[in-house]
Amino acid sequence: MTDTIEQVAVAVTVNGKRVKRFVDPRTLLIHFLREEMNLTGSHIGCETSHCGACTVEMDGLSVKSCTVFALQANDSEVNTVEGLANADGTLHALQEGFRQMHGLQCGFCTPGMLMRAKVLLAENPDPSEDEIRFGIAGNLCRCTGYQNIVKAIQYAADKLNGRAHKEAAE
Ligand code: FES
Ligand code: FES
Repeated sequence: MTDTIEQVAVAVTVNGKRVKRFVDPRTLLIHFLREEMNLTGSHIGCETSHCGACTVEMDGLSVKSCTVFALQANDSEVNTVEGLANADGTLHALQEGFRQMHGLQCGFCTPGMLMRAKVLLAENPDPSEDEIRFGIAGNLCRCTGYQNIVKAIQYAADKLNGRAHKEAAE
């Protein structure tokens, strides 16, 4: 005889849209987003809370969604990279910064990096280079060497603060 696991209701606001699903209580938030919501922008790298590829915004905090149960997100507001662009369809300042400053190569880390950077700039709108490096320390990139990711975040900070960004990408 096999044990059956009772499904639990999870109601979450994802990118501004309220959704409700019945899931296995062990379902991780990253699987909820990717498999229940078909939002595959958030990536799965390590599934052990190390790489940050799965980072999303939950109630204003950046969380590694591979180590959050979907049930823990019940009644929360979750934002993923799919909801990052501006309402008029133009790129968010961070997306523009990553494009202009060449802040990505393969792009695997990028959705998590963008969502982490979004929360970082909400917490600290004008971070120093050291604060940016510290702020993204939980998000690993195997391609870029980080230099242009830092510049991309500086670009976004400048834009959001109404300043022109003067540095070029490396
Ligand atoms: S997949 Fe979540 S931290 Fe790596
Ligand atoms: S751009 Fe490839 S892992 Fe960051």
